[in-house]
Amino acid sequence: MVVPEEVISEICRVALLAPSAMNAQPWQLVAVMGERRAEVAKTLQRMGMNKFVSRASALIVVASDKSGGIMRAGEVLRENEFVKNDLGILTAHLVLAAESAGVGSCILGWRDEEALRTLLGLGKEVIIPEVVALGYPAEDYPVREKKRKPLEKTFTLLK
Ligand SMILES: Cc1cc2nc3c(=O)[nH]c(=O)nc-3n(C[C@H](O)[C@H](O)[C@H](O)COP(=O)(O)O)c2cc1C
Repeated sequence: MVVPEEVISEICRVALLAPSAMNAQPWQLVAVMGERRAEVAKTLQRMGMNKFVSRASALIVVASDKSGGIMRAGEVLRENEFVKNDLGILTAHLVLAAESAGVGSCILGWRDEEALRTLLGLGKEVIIPEVVALGYPAEDYPVREKKRKPLEKTFTLLK
């Protein structure tokens, strides 16, 4: 079943409540549904990768805003390019909002960024770190087991 347009739009609306450094909101989400999905899917499938994205209901392109996220004074001072952090946080909100709506997701970093920019008419200054595929999970498909590094390798509690 295809996820309805209203559900996809609501997931994006909720995701866009994400926080960003200095509340700059240096982002744009482009939800691609219907016929235009195929051309976006191709940009995610180079070298035979990500075949499953052809079956997604929507492909959400996570991009910086049209200024490319102009360096903010705080970034220069802190030597920290916040836009990539902001887009990562937005992506996390997007997949969590999808989960809350009963929609499955996969973050796709294997993408042809230049081809995506051309397809969507976005300028060279715009970065597209990832695309998120959304769709209803197949009923007969088992949720795969979470494989994570042991906690003692990735978590430290200092007192
Ligand atoms: C930045 C980023 C890029 C990713 N790119 C891809 C991708 O191109 N194709 C894919 O199948 N999965 C991709 N993934 C999904 C990861 O492989 C997945 O989140 C990880 O294996 C953990 O999966 P799990 O939560 O189901 O255990 C990406 C995840 C992230 C966070």
